[in-house]
Amino acid sequence: MTIASEEEIGSHETQDMSELRALNSEFNVVNEPKLATLVNSLPSASAPFQRWLKYREGYAPEIVDRAIAESEKSASLPLDKGTLLDPFSGGGTSLVVARRHGLDSLGYEVNPVIAQLSRAKTHNYSSTDFLVVDQAIADIRQLTDQSPQAKTPELKILQKVFRPDVLAILLSMRYVIDGIENYRARDLLKVAWVSILEGVSNTFKEGNGIKYRNRKRTKNGYVQVPWEQVPGYLLPARETCIDRFINQIDMMINDVQSFPANGIEPAIRERSSVASLSEIESNSIDVSVFSPPYCNNFNYFKAFKIELWMGGYVENYSHLKQLTDTALRSHVELDLSELNDQQEETLPTELLSIVSTLRSRKLWSRKLPDSVLAYFFDMHRIINEVNRVLKPGALAHIVVGNSAYAGLIVPTDLFIASMARELGMTVERIEVARALTTSPQQRRLIPRENQKLLRESVLVLRSS
Ligand SMILES: C[S@@+](CC[C@H](N)C(=O)[O-])C[C@H]1O[C@@H](n2cnc3c(N)ncnc32)[C@H](O)[C@@H]1O
Repeated sequence: MTIASEEEIGSHETQDMSELRALNSEFNVVNEPKLATLVNSLPSASAPFQRWLKYREGYAPEIVDRAIAESEKSASLPLDKGTLLDPFSGGGTSLVVARRHGLDSLGYEVNPVIAQLSRAKTHNYSSTDFLVVDQAIADIRQLTDQSPQAKTPELKILQKVFRPDVLAILLSMRYVIDGIENYRARDLLKVAWVSILEGVSNTFKEGNGIKYRNRKRTKNGYVQVPWEQVPGYLLPARETCIDRFINQIDMMINDVQSFPANGIEPAIRERSSVASLSEIESNSIDVSVFSPPYCNNFNYFKAFKIELWMGGYVENYSHLKQLTDTALRSHVELDLSELNDQQEETLPTELLSIVSTLRSRKLWSRKLPDSVLAYFFDMHRIINEVNRVLKPGALAHIVVGNSAYAGLIVPTDLFIASMARELGMTVERIEVARALTTSPQQRRLIPRENQKLLRESVLVLRSS
């Protein structure tokens, strides 16, 4: 992940780092360069299960292996059983790994596309389920122009995203999949179908959203390319979609069969952990491993716009807004109206002083300082709940990245560590995995010495 970089440039006073340096020196901060390739999904993107859907927000399975190994060593986790909690379970990396270790697990995820991906990865499939999958593949092979289709999504840009014949075959495939009653087979088939959408569309994911393939970036800005010259545009719709789908599902079934399931299927709750962790019994969790959204103003739903609409996960724009509003408040498009009721004294003073300086700076959105506050209010709730639900002495491993706005560094790892300490947790260490790349604007605004705090880390906390 990269740090936010869209703020307007102005000549600002350099950030006074003395308070942040002092806070940094209060913790056991260690360099762990071997974690650099594990805190993001790219290096492991072609590994079994990880390769099902491009999901750049994920981390590598080894992040979870390490947390479980450390918990077992410190005897907080019985070797043969226990429960892992991931309040931001995303593509399900923590849950897949927990199950390989024979642990029960519980995840929360608000994006229904991603929640379905994690369910598909963690079902205990039976031979009956695979027979249902085989039958669906046979039905899909028989589809023609006349076959029934799922309802056309209301997404306004749909006609620009898919060629009409591609859209028609995709919706016919979805009609077959949605009609399957066996939920395990349906989850697997639906994820395979969702995974091919980007490749047969005229868009691709980039940064915080999607871009059209017929807009080419040049030295002088974007230029329009005729659709016919876009690679892949003239491929035959029916054969291309069905072949890609069948290759995808074959690969997924191969992964499932190479790692036979054992243990109970994880519980994946499709709702906000910020609002719902209170439903978990106190002292019931043995280890928690997670990576929350970063405080970098990324709207995770945007990159999955096509999948959300095409898959019927959202029906209309107000439904999409409702869903987006359940996310942890990490960007300015979210509802920040509740802020007035929240207690600023629960937040680190160093954070409050950064927010107050931010308010005096020229920013691309006036809501930005509030969104930073909202982020830490939500994270405060999460850490408080994680501490409550963990058994005494149990560990939480949390992957976070710091960010910067208008030349001001927001060291999320230090602020979460500080809040956790206030809440009675022990901060075992902050493991610095790697430096975050900065935009040229940020590099100009932030002195090199201060840039050291622009980093991605694994926080290791022990519950009280
Ligand atoms: C950094 S990703 C986690 C990736 C995951 N560790 C993996 O390896 O796949 C953060 C996830 O949190 C989800 N999320 C955001 N707000 C949430 C909330 N309030 N409750 C639960 N999940 C949330 C996002 O949709 C995103 O999938």
